[in-house]
Amino acid sequence: MRMKTIIITGGAGFIGSHVARLFVNKYREYKIVNLDKLTYAGNLANLKDIENSPNYEFVKGDIVDSNFIQKLFEDKQFDGVIHLAAESHVDRSISQPAEFVFTNVIGTVNLLNAAKHIWKDNYSGKIFYHISTDEVYGSLGEEGMFTEENRYEPHSPYSASKASSDHFVRAFNDTFGVPAIISNCSNNYGSYQFPEKLIPLFINNIRHKKPLPVYGTGENVRDWLWVADHARAIDLIFHKGKIGETYNIGGFNQWKNIDLIRLMCKILDKKLNRSEGESEQLITFVKDRSGHDLRYAVDASKIKRELGWEPSLKFEEGIEKTIDWYLTNEDWLNNVTSGDYQKYYEEQYTKN
Ligand code: NAD
Ligand code: DAU
Repeated sequence: MRMKTIIITGGAGFIGSHVARLFVNKYREYKIVNLDKLTYAGNLANLKDIENSPNYEFVKGDIVDSNFIQKLFEDKQFDGVIHLAAESHVDRSISQPAEFVFTNVIGTVNLLNAAKHIWKDNYSGKIFYHISTDEVYGSLGEEGMFTEENRYEPHSPYSASKASSDHFVRAFNDTFGVPAIISNCSNNYGSYQFPEKLIPLFINNIRHKKPLPVYGTGENVRDWLWVADHARAIDLIFHKGKIGETYNIGGFNQWKNIDLIRLMCKILDKKLNRSEGESEQLITFVKDRSGHDLRYAVDASKIKRELGWEPSLKFEEGIEKTIDWYLTNEDWLNNVTSGDYQKYYEEQYTKN
């Protein structure tokens, strides 16, 4: 019998690398193909421990290139797609919105077309699983949580592009019968996250005693989930989820940015043998992000009820582990923060 062949797109990124590792180690009977363009956010060092596994293959390529994607699907005859490749940073989407349309919208449509083409309307045992975000639902006020029934109300070019890709996935399911599932997850944290996102950026800045640029008043709220718990949810949905369904995934763990930042300062003061309150002095309130969503909070009761998933790790434990990982893996951090990163950082934080 031929091995089941699964393509994971964006497997060299933050969440994708956790998903690829989980699948390669857990499902020896699958062949896992990791397709990644290796943008600034993709890094093969994230996958060092599995790169020589016999059931793993890395392919460098761009999901925007439809001919390349079509050929790859014809050659490999994938049985399943787990699609994570994306431009994922809201701040970058404000300075370069078109990039987000190319990768997140056109790239997703190219993958859908290629899957439809090789599966030739015989969809038995096939699945196209699209990884999306809670940001498609827009922003919450003081009360409430996003359920799967919330209407789409994206505000940033990033969330608009992810919302559009979700619509295309549903359209291919409705129009052509492509067996698809979508999940929408809240903010992830953990190892291997590129340090332009809040948690690794601030750990790195505290380490170097650099200013901590808090957007606006720091009152915005995010719902944080341990990345390995997201990977576990993806595994469960891929194998047990119902075709045509959407699942929300979240941490049941809301934090105001400023409270989270103070907590990180406190933990790092201890770990770096600094005096109490020293790192908090680095907090610098800067101009707010344009269109900054106030609050995200995910109601993940459907996946809990139907598939038995819930977060495994308490945030207080997860954030300690995460800080320890970045402190221990200084080389990884130093490597990804050299070169182009410096240029990005200067442009992002010196503009008014
Ligand atoms: P990331 O930016 O760390 O990684 C994205 C990966 O996609 C990188 O390896 C990059 O090289 C690759 N990529 C980008 N453009 C590509 C292209 N044109 N062709 C092939 N590969 C390309 O992102 P992440 O934080 O790991 O997010 C992964 C997915 O999960 C995204 O779809 C994102 O929208 C979604 N998501 C992220 C979060 C979060 O908190 N990070 C939460 C919910 C959903
Ligand atoms: O909700 C899920 C989303 O979470 C994912 O879809 C995105 O891919 C992911 O990047 C993340 O988006 P956010 O915009 O919430 O994440 P970010 O880490 O950029 O910012 C978290 C919060 O911290 C947000 O309110 C903005 C604020 N922030 C961020 C940075 C980088 C600051 O105050 N200062 C900063 O320098």
